[in-house]
Amino acid sequence: MPEINKKGRVLSGMRPTGKLHLGHLVGALENWARLQRQYECYYFVADWHALTTDYADTSRIKQSIVEMMVDWLASGLDPDESTLFLQSHVPQHAELHLLLSMITPLGWLERVPTYKEQRENIKDKDLGTYGFLGYPVLQSADILIYRGDYVPVGEDQVPHVELTREIARRFNQFYGGVFPEPQPLLTPAAKLPGTDGRKMSKSYNNAILISDPEPVIRQKLKPMVTDPARVRRTDPGNPHVCPVYALHEIFSSRETIHNVEVGCTTAGIGCLDCKSWVADAIVDRLKPIQERRQKYEQNPKLVWDILEAGSERAGMAAEVVMSDVRESMNFSHDYQAPLAEEQQSKS
Ligand code: TRP
Ligand code: SF4
Repeated sequence: MPEINKKGRVLSGMRPTGKLHLGHLVGALENWARLQRQYECYYFVADWHALTTDYADTSRIKQSIVEMMVDWLASGLDPDESTLFLQSHVPQHAELHLLLSMITPLGWLERVPTYKEQRENIKDKDLGTYGFLGYPVLQSADILIYRGDYVPVGEDQVPHVELTREIARRFNQFYGGVFPEPQPLLTPAAKLPGTDGRKMSKSYNNAILISDPEPVIRQKLKPMVTDPARVRRTDPGNPHVCPVYALHEIFSSRETIHNVEVGCTTAGIGCLDCKSWVADAIVDRLKPIQERRQKYEQNPKLVWDILEAGSERAGMAAEVVMSDVRESMNFSHDYQAPLAEEQQSKS
């Protein structure tokens, strides 16, 4: 791992959700891949975090992990450049989580916005569990166990990084300066709309997958929502309210974007033309990624071995910090004769 000249540590994770979509690609993976050259990067599959909501059925978890990893590797995350690992195979995360849970006030957790939102929105599962409330404490442990400096995340995750800073500060006050305070690195990409115009998400069934073959991509785009005021082919449209245009802005060349603006506002093109152009651009962007996918998809054991090797490396880095933590809290293995000290001070 060429660590020389890399300034600072980057850490981020994703819950294993199986095959990823274009929102993951432009919202996270491309950014993560760019960071690899400049920083010492740790990217991990947050499989324990998956349990905070999907604890009742774990039968598909290994498959989801490997499917997601295939997309990570194909999108340019490089195991020679970054440490790619599996959270549950680095038990130091759990040890630090336990210690942090002791010093984290309940009120801090109840105030986390994702906690309230998900308790209200997810009704088909019982989220009244200890683990669900503690989700951000586990996330704090994930970050602090590597002394991460920067955490590339989407906006929804920023409060979790803020909480991590507060927990780090509290820990440092009690036990000495063990942890630096991490900073969120906001991913610049705009929210990618799905085919129904809402945010692209697997659970909305509106997603284009990184692994979708060309005919599937074209088929998914055909019925995509457009400017609702453009009813007939002869009506001029407004690209700035159209989710198809939002995709153009991310995937198409300047020239195509210009042609869409002119064609749309003058009713010179139809929406189906416009969608076929954006399909072309998406297919182009995915081509090298899908080519790289093949090797990994055909060899899931190779993918698993990459994660195992990464987890071993991550474990060594985590142990360095964990032994500082144990020492600072007086849980190290060596006995430092506090009694003798006490006697001295008495005499
Ligand atoms: N909570 C993050 C998400 O749902 C995943 C995650 C777990 C994470 N641990 C992390 C992200 C540590 C950044 C750092 O997307
Ligand atoms: Fe949207 Fe393109 Fe149709 Fe204009 S032409 S409304 S930008 S799909």
